[in-house]
Amino acid sequence: MKTTHNILFQDARNLREIPSESVDLVVTSPPYPMIEMWDEMFSHQNPEIQKALVRGDGKQAYALMHEVLDAVWSEVFRVLKEGRFACINIGDATRKVQDDFCLYPNHARILNYLLSIGFSALPDILWRKQANTPNKFMGSGMLPAGAYVTLEHEYILIVRKGSKREFRTEDEKQNRRESALFWEERNIWYSDVWTDIKGTGQKLPKAMSRLRSAAFPFDLVYRLINMYSVKGDVILDPFLGTGTTTAAAMTSGRNSIGVEIDENLQQVICPIVHHIVDFSNAYLQDRLLRHFEFIESRIQTSKPLKYTNKHYACPVVTSQEQFIFFNSLKEVRTRENNIFEVVYSTKPQAWNFDQSPETLVRKKEKSYTKSFQLIRCQL
Ligand SMILES: C[S@@+](CC[C@H](N)C(=O)[O-])C[C@H]1O[C@@H](n2cnc3c(N)ncnc32)[C@H](O)[C@@H]1O
Repeated sequence: MKTTHNILFQDARNLREIPSESVDLVVTSPPYPMIEMWDEMFSHQNPEIQKALVRGDGKQAYALMHEVLDAVWSEVFRVLKEGRFACINIGDATRKVQDDFCLYPNHARILNYLLSIGFSALPDILWRKQANTPNKFMGSGMLPAGAYVTLEHEYILIVRKGSKREFRTEDEKQNRRESALFWEERNIWYSDVWTDIKGTGQKLPKAMSRLRSAAFPFDLVYRLINMYSVKGDVILDPFLGTGTTTAAAMTSGRNSIGVEIDENLQQVICPIVHHIVDFSNAYLQDRLLRHFEFIESRIQTSKPLKYTNKHYACPVVTSQEQFIFFNSLKEVRTRENNIFEVVYSTKPQAWNFDQSPETLVRKKEKSYTKSFQLIRCQL
């Protein structure tokens, strides 16, 4: 089994290289309109934005920034196949322009546009990030009528093009079964408020065109890819940034296309490619060990489980989990400039567990978002 990962350094407002109806899932996070770190990036793409900001016309700047994003959403609609999803991580912005402090509701503006071009909305996910800064409260402190609630959540908008995806042939159905989630993962992953994923480190190397990466956590994109696509699908991120989506697609056995306007980010994306085999295999092994831990505690508290996973010979709660199989990574090859190929093992034994599953103990609280950050920083 092999997957291919293509990185295009270009403007995603025109994705002419990508044929219509060729992509299975879009997972992305755009620059957030009216968050100051993106003013320059938006103004490069439409100089009227800078003029509006200088005039103190926040509403006009906000409208023009969204017009830049609209062009990308239209391309996303064109390249997605029927029945496929787009998952868009977006936060609203609060900002004072001249003396006017207000909320710029980016999530609402984007969702409206997506509906206007033909997408159907599905229930979205509220990602509640924990912010522990002491001055997180805004406004007039303890005095009523002038304080603003803290903005500690972002959205993951979920939209679909056309009607439900069909899995028709026996091969498609078997691939879907192998791509399934464990029951206990489903219970957390498909809830509409995510509180268990922390934000990720934002440091970029010195001498980059910007100081912060605005990267989303590996866990967040890995989860979305596993919820809304199957192995072998093509995942597109039109705002690739540091390459988190490429890495999560590689770990999940999906193909990917990443589009990024800032060529300087190549020096951040390439080290990921070189460390991904060890990182992914540890991540997948940890996912399996979490399942073993769940099973152990479940067996202690309730009746024995009826079903067994065929590949790992471990108990599972439902019949749908019997064929779940994680392909470990064998190697990454560079096919040509910015095109990478990942080769996977098709045998479950590749994990080389040196103890039996029942006695394996997962390193408690091991944070893969943190170890993924370390890969980004090895520059
Ligand atoms: C919020 S960041 C994405 C971060 C990414 N999710 C990660 O984990 O690193 C948005 C990215 O979009 C890029 N960008 C902005 N406008 C773009 C455009 N028109 N086409 C392609 N990329 C663009 C920016 O350079 C930035 O890297």
